[in-house]
Amino acid sequence: MNSRPSATECYVYITLTGQTEPVTAGRFELTTDRRGNALGRYVYAHSYLDRSDCVEIDPVELKLADRVYETTALKGVFGALRDAGPDYWGRRVIERHAGKPQLSELDYLLYSPDDRAGALGFGLGQRPPAPKRDFNTTLDLAKLQAIADAIVEDEELPAGADASQVEDLMLIGTSMGGARPKAVVEDTDGLWLAKLNRPDDKWNNARVEHTMLVLARSCGLATAESKVIPVGNRDVLLVKRFDREKAKRGYLRARMVSALTLLRAEDTPQSRDKWSYVALSEELRRVSSEPKKDAAELFRRVCFNALISNIDDHPRNHAIIAKERDWRLSPAYDLTPSAPVSLERRDLAMIAGDHGRYANAENLLSQCARFLLNRPEAETMVAKMEECLRDTWYTVARREGVSEKDCEQIKGSFAYAGFGYSVAGD
Ligand SMILES: Nc1ncnc2c1ncn2[C@@H]1O[C@H](COP(=O)(O)OP(=O)(O)OP(=O)(O)O)[C@@H](O)[C@H]1O
Ligand SMILES: [Mg+2]
Repeated sequence: MNSRPSATECYVYITLTGQTEPVTAGRFELTTDRRGNALGRYVYAHSYLDRSDCVEIDPVELKLADRVYETTALKGVFGALRDAGPDYWGRRVIERHAGKPQLSELDYLLYSPDDRAGALGFGLGQRPPAPKRDFNTTLDLAKLQAIADAIVEDEELPAGADASQVEDLMLIGTSMGGARPKAVVEDTDGLWLAKLNRPDDKWNNARVEHTMLVLARSCGLATAESKVIPVGNRDVLLVKRFDREKAKRGYLRARMVSALTLLRAEDTPQSRDKWSYVALSEELRRVSSEPKKDAAELFRRVCFNALISNIDDHPRNHAIIAKERDWRLSPAYDLTPSAPVSLERRDLAMIAGDHGRYANAENLLSQCARFLLNRPEAETMVAKMEECLRDTWYTVARREGVSEKDCEQIKGSFAYAGFGYSVAGD
């Protein structure tokens, strides 16, 4: 792979509703001008537009049309394509494998496995290759955890130094996003995202994150299904892929686009003023086939995040999915508590109301109309959620195997004092 020149264009494949094999949707070209500015171009294939079952890649930038789409944002990679590519963790594995510190954006898409979120695929051939069926299984988790440990701990490990290391990197490589070590594994029920441990974890992450998903469900949110599997003397969290469904001949795939793409935002500090739940609700209402339900669900999610002090609720931790033609808000995933010191003020990663990112009930309520909720409805939702979390977090955490010591560590996360503070005259 190291000797291969960087590609400047590729084909984009898509697995359509009810299918398990992809078709070619279009072509993506990524070029850089003399000043180093990236320009991305996308065109849908005529053969694709002619199909009666063709669907848009995303409802924001790449609607179905016979035209050339261009972008200079996001290093020239359209948001929906970037959402299908690896992030910090997956890129790190690919860089090791390639023996290069940095690759072109197109290389990251091309040299990552086809376990990516959503229904897209990428390749150099005009026709898509047959999908590979060789997923890791839950039996491989101990090995995957050991490889992840080696990657996390030994940053200087020369990539591709010997055959077994290359194989190991292939084994753990994933196109799924996020920073935490992870791999995709299969069992008889289908595909799971395995979230592995890091040596610097403050608590048993698998059990705590699983508990957050269970709690969110009991507070009325739609969430990804999850379970914890003991691996050696540690635990691994398995989160069921909601964008894949096992079928007779392979996997059905749902399209998936992140909130970052919906907001036309970037993952940079300069773009952070676009990171807003209020704006996201507006976008969601425009694209969702059930705007009222989804806007209310998003409101519940903001409320839940504020009440567990989830300050890592950035826009790649929210998504919309389309199993068929229609787009809906995806189930909640990646819910993590934090225990900041401040009892007065904690900030979400996204703007939640008139008082910015403040994880505070009045702040959330200030913009409830944008979530299509009237004030009394929204107040009831907030009060119920606060009560539910305050009353049940500990019992649920202990039942799901969170140790007494870890409960002590996370207890300050739930319904912290500042959530209920009055912000009048702020
Ligand atoms: N259950 C799921 N089904 C399908 N896709 C998922 C699921 N859970 C997560 N994803 C996708 O995988 C990505 C990574 O997952 P997740 O956010 O849980 O990882 P992480 O490493 O903890 O992320 P972060 O960097 O935000 O801490 C998400 O951004 C989302 O695109
Ligand atoms: Mg995440």
